[in-house]
Amino acid sequence: MATYLPLMTDQQFIQLLDHSAFGKGAARHAFRVPTDPDVVVKKTVRPHPGSNMTEWLIWQAAAAAQNNLREVLGRCISISESGTYLMMERLDDLNPSDYADIPDVPTWFNDPKPDAFGKRNGVIKIRDYGLVHLDKLVSEATTHPPAFAVNARMKRDFGI
Ligand SMILES: Nc1ncnc2c1ncn2[C@@H]1O[C@H](COP(=O)(O)OP(=O)(O)O)[C@@H](O)[C@H]1O
Ligand SMILES: [Mg+2]
Repeated sequence: MATYLPLMTDQQFIQLLDHSAFGKGAARHAFRVPTDPDVVVKKTVRPHPGSNMTEWLIWQAAAAAQNNLREVLGRCISISESGTYLMMERLDDLNPSDYADIPDVPTWFNDPKPDAFGKRNGVIKIRDYGLVHLDKLVSEATTHPPAFAVNARMKRDFGI
């Protein structure tokens, strides 16, 4: 697979794209990259690039946490400066015979259609995770504030 900068200009994306989309959803159109069969680019067709931004953010969070979600989510590779373009690993359409092999999904996942899943090299992953149950994503569990705030509390409350 070629390497790409995680952040590219919209113009850099436009130069990579095939002339027409091969797949269309309500929010995004998907394009192949003729020079790279391992990736697709999703172009936002809405005024706001919400789905691209959501997928990018969730992928970055899973990568930073190094958690198991990385095995069930399509890998996001690069996003454009405006968010209009998002590059993701290519995950081809499933056949109905694949459905029983779809893995468990995160509780926040909110697009229970076969089309939201794809397969490449025998591995099935979620390729459309732009729709989420936000209440599940935003947990109310809290932890300590940053160290400077903890220090200030200690000083205020205990004089140390
Ligand atoms: N990672 C991918 N690999 C291959 N095709 C994809 C990938 N992601 C999306 N597609 C294709 O593009 C279409 C639209 O993308 P999708 O992520 O479903 O956008 P939307 O948010 O508009 O539903 C999908 O139905 C599918 O055909
Ligand atoms: Mg979709």
